[in-house]
Amino acid sequence: MELTEVIKKRRSIRKFSDKPVSRELLTELIEAAALAPTASNLQAWRFFVADDPTLVREIDSFSPGLSGHPPVIIAIASDLAEVERRGSKNSLVYGLMMDASMAAENLMLKAADLGLGTCAIKSYNDKAVHKLLNLPDTMRLEILISLGWPEGEPRTPRRKPMEDVLFWNAWEEPEKSTADRTPEEEPAKARKPENDKKAVGNQAAAARTGGAQAQQTETLRFDKKELQDLLIYMITSAAGLPGEPHMYGPLRLIESSRRLAGMLSAAYGGEVFGELTALIDAGKGRNMTDPEGFCEMLQEAAAKATELL
Ligand SMILES: Cc1cc2nc3c(=O)[nH]c(=O)nc-3n(C[C@H](O)[C@H](O)[C@H](O)COP(=O)(O)O)c2cc1C
Repeated sequence: MELTEVIKKRRSIRKFSDKPVSRELLTELIEAAALAPTASNLQAWRFFVADDPTLVREIDSFSPGLSGHPPVIIAIASDLAEVERRGSKNSLVYGLMMDASMAAENLMLKAADLGLGTCAIKSYNDKAVHKLLNLPDTMRLEILISLGWPEGEPRTPRRKPMEDVLFWNAWEEPEKSTADRTPEEEPAKARKPENDKKAVGNQAAAARTGGAQAQQTETLRFDKKELQDLLIYMITSAAGLPGEPHMYGPLRLIESSRRLAGMLSAAYGGEVFGELTALIDAGKGRNMTDPEGFCEMLQEAAAKATELL
């Protein structure tokens, strides 16, 4: 594929098929990564390719930012022992992260060229992934990349217009573009009157059903592994959220709610749990591409939850 075409085609993929990726292709990707530039030609990056399904699943459990069950996870780490020998202080402060980022982009573009999907992941628990990959303390994790054959068509997130990001020669105050607005700056839109209507309608529906689901008293048996995974997801999310963008908080909470609704649905078979699951599944991916739509989904989920009363 032509370069511009590949650059345009690459998207963050958050849904993968089960189809395995051959080691031959994985090696090609690492070769592309290792052709990236590095400060002082240090090449201190190391690429850990996890393709063992159990290991991939374990890393996945400790990476709240990772979605779509990829068959492969690649960790890019920096070898601090090599930096100690040959590097400078600047390498530790910013060089290594930049080197890893450039290698990651090479890898992701090569993957896109081969029809593979990737997503850069920074929301993972550093200590847990270190332990799972058996990394010595001298190895600094820089980024994870989820990888596999994409399933479905990814959404194309908005890009800022050129006048917001391109400056010829010197800086000038750009006009605030709509692409820059946070959901907080559009509060009136984030909660539309129709949602309120829906909430009232759903409360009425809940009253009609007499809150039947809440009154069930049978002892539930949940899948221990699923519950454990949810617990790990919540703990690692809590550990990671203080350093993450503010919109990740609602995302992690609604993802936890989704998992719980799925478990309740499996245990009870209740309609509302299934509907909540479908509603969240349809809207959670919009967190980055369409924050307004994402917030609407949260309101709809809250309204739907009133049917459990
Ligand atoms: C450093 C970095 C960290 C990222 N971390 C995550 C992550 O933890 N989870 C995730 O789903 N996406 C993550 N992404 C992907 C971005 O959300 C994505 O690149 C952005 O929304 C633009 O979408 P696009 O890659 O399809 O163009 C990360 C991207 C970068 C560059």
